[in-house]
Amino acid sequence: MSGARWRTAVVTGASSGIGEAVARRLAAGGSGLVLVARDRDRLEALAADLGPYHGVEVEVLAADLATVEGRSAVEARLADGHAPVDLLVNNAGFGTTGDLVDLDPEAEDRQVQVNVLAVLRLTRAALPGMVGRGRGAVVNVASLAGLYPTPGTATYGATKAFVCSLTDALHEELRGTGVTATAVLPGFTRTEFQERAGWRPQAYLPDAVWMTADEVAAATLDGAAAGRARVVPGVAYKVLNGVTSPLPAGARRTLLGLTRRLGL
Ligand SMILES: NC(=O)c1ccc[n+]([C@@H]2O[C@H](COP(=O)([O-])OP(=O)(O)OC[C@H]3O[C@@H](n4cnc5c(N)ncnc54)[C@H](OP(=O)(O)O)[C@@H]3O)[C@@H](O)[C@H]2O)c1
Repeated sequence: MSGARWRTAVVTGASSGIGEAVARRLAAGGSGLVLVARDRDRLEALAADLGPYHGVEVEVLAADLATVEGRSAVEARLADGHAPVDLLVNNAGFGTTGDLVDLDPEAEDRQVQVNVLAVLRLTRAALPGMVGRGRGAVVNVASLAGLYPTPGTATYGATKAFVCSLTDALHEELRGTGVTATAVLPGFTRTEFQERAGWRPQAYLPDAVWMTADEVAAATLDGAAAGRARVVPGVAYKVLNGVTSPLPAGARRTLLGLTRRLGL
């Protein structure tokens, strides 16, 4: 089982989608869990489902990662040397849809708080203990959107570019410490993400492009166990990434701008 090597994992955004799937796999593999998200009821239902069934300890830490208080509570749990965490999965995140000129600045701000600041602060809180113990992993769920400009969801792509760059650099800084940093770059995955973002790509994208949350979770945990710098889940998305990454930045921008003008 992919989770067996981790004693205690903190998973943010565990109340649905990829985070929930990661939590389920970790529990099945024997890891204890700290489940983080805003929706306490959903986290408690998941804890009640996983804890007794798999015989693992599951803590619920309801926190809004768009707030200083919420981030501080999770930072404190990560820094608690009496209950060490050896895997941090920074997965919570959301997007908004529309041209920046029209979007609510408060929602864009919250997006940066959750997708960027929480990832930075939680990682920083977890690292001293992990490095001190010579063991651990940080997994940051970014997106393939982090590799391209994303007109129509500009802030989202920019937040994920931050996560890719941060994690790449961290991966190198951590060499020789026994701790690894892994960025996960999923493509389209069936979760609540699209509905929350007010976006309906299901209407025009074929079934073949969609991954399940569990497929992404499996690739995520395999990548963490192997200490990889980057994971692109799914063969089709690996190929797409391989084909498009050599394109010059201007060509990628023009291509993505075209998809926006076509209303995709
Ligand atoms: N689905 C895709 O196509 C796709 C593709 C590439 C990358 N991703 C990335 O994958 C990650 C997981 O998304 P998902 O697809 O699983 O979407 P999802 O089903 O909407 O799950 C998002 C999770 O983030 C949590 N969250 C959102 N805002 C939060 C906040 N302010 N504080 C704490 N938790 C918060 C949500 O919990 P609460 O609402 O309970 O707080 C939920 O558990 C995200 O980082 C997303 O950017 C998704």
